[in-house]
Amino acid sequence: MRRLSRKKALNFVKELDAFPKVPESYVETSATGGTVSLVAFTAMALLAFFEFFVYRDTWMKYEYEVDKDFSSKLRINIDITVAMRCQFVGADVLDLAETMVASDGLQYEPVVFELSPQQRLWHRTLLLVQNRLREEHSLQDVIFKSVMKGGPTALPPREDDPTQPLNACRIHGHLYVNKVAGNFHITVGKAIPHPRGHAHLAALVSHETYNFSHRIDHLSFGEEIPGILNPLDGTEKVCTDHNQMFQYFITIVPTKLETYKVSADTHQYSVTERERVINHAAGSHGVSGIFMKYDVSSLRVLVTEQHMPLWQFLVRLCGIIGGIFSTTGMLHGLVGFCVDVVCCRFKLGVYKPKGISLLDGHVNSKTHLLSENNEH
Ligand SMILES: *[C@@H]1O[C@H](CO)[C@@H](O)[C@H](O)[C@H]1NC(C)=O
Repeated sequence: MRRLSRKKALNFVKELDAFPKVPESYVETSATGGTVSLVAFTAMALLAFFEFFVYRDTWMKYEYEVDKDFSSKLRINIDITVAMRCQFVGADVLDLAETMVASDGLQYEPVVFELSPQQRLWHRTLLLVQNRLREEHSLQDVIFKSVMKGGPTALPPREDDPTQPLNACRIHGHLYVNKVAGNFHITVGKAIPHPRGHAHLAALVSHETYNFSHRIDHLSFGEEIPGILNPLDGTEKVCTDHNQMFQYFITIVPTKLETYKVSADTHQYSVTERERVINHAAGSHGVSGIFMKYDVSSLRVLVTEQHMPLWQFLVRLCGIIGGIFSTTGMLHGLVGFCVDVVCCRFKLGVYKPKGISLLDGHVNSKTHLLSENNEH
């Protein structure tokens, strides 16, 4: 009894077989079928090959969420050279929470404003890359992916000994500020804290020495990641007037970068700039200097590097192979069918001579005549 039911089950399973085995001798092969198969196999191989490259590739996915981190401090990394002697300039930050933030993290280093030939070359290359970045946004993805393995984006040291006097001041280092809107600025004179803000002691500096030509070699917020280019990196401004005010309006976007090589909390920013000559007589009031007003965006961007999972790759591969196989089979059948139809029509025309119908008419008329004759 048991054996019987087992046999039944086996028979049932056998009936389900969707791959009927046709004995080899019954299979007819043809030249057209062979050609179609060859084309199909070539297409399969090519598509599978390209699909593999798609599988190997990664892409960046951008997501947005409200920034819920409200307690951390914001780090400002700065490296800027101003065409004035160090004793004449001071840099500090004012923010909405505290009136003045300690700027101990900054170093003042006397340098020459003009770049050495090698540095000039490097600087020009950087500007070129920046221009391309502005035009082609997808380049940003490449930069994100090559973070860490990319070369350093900092200005290389001078290769020559400058003969000129050290007429400029390089201000570099980092500061921690509250994560609120603020204003980083470089103006004449050192800052002196004051109960209602702060003042810059500028009385001793003659207006003739004012020169706020500057070069921003690096300005970033958050964790410093080698290989990332920031919008202001490489900016160079040379002014013709002594009393000039440069303003940069910066919106900082917190960014979590998650690639296969690095995971970092960084910040991107967008910037607009404005510059004008201070001339009190002409109604253009203000303080000459470099002002960077920054604000933090309430949205956070999550940038993650993504990869096609293996199962998806396999499914797509099956789709390609099976799809091409059955599509070419169907096309082959259809073409064969069409050829058959056309041939048969043609043949029908051959076998059906037009004379028959003519003859028919003739016969009919004859019989008609006959019958007429009979009536007479
Ligand atoms: C400021 O310094 C730069 C670089 O040394 C120079 O090219 C420019 O002419 C100077 N501007 C003024 C107003 O002195």
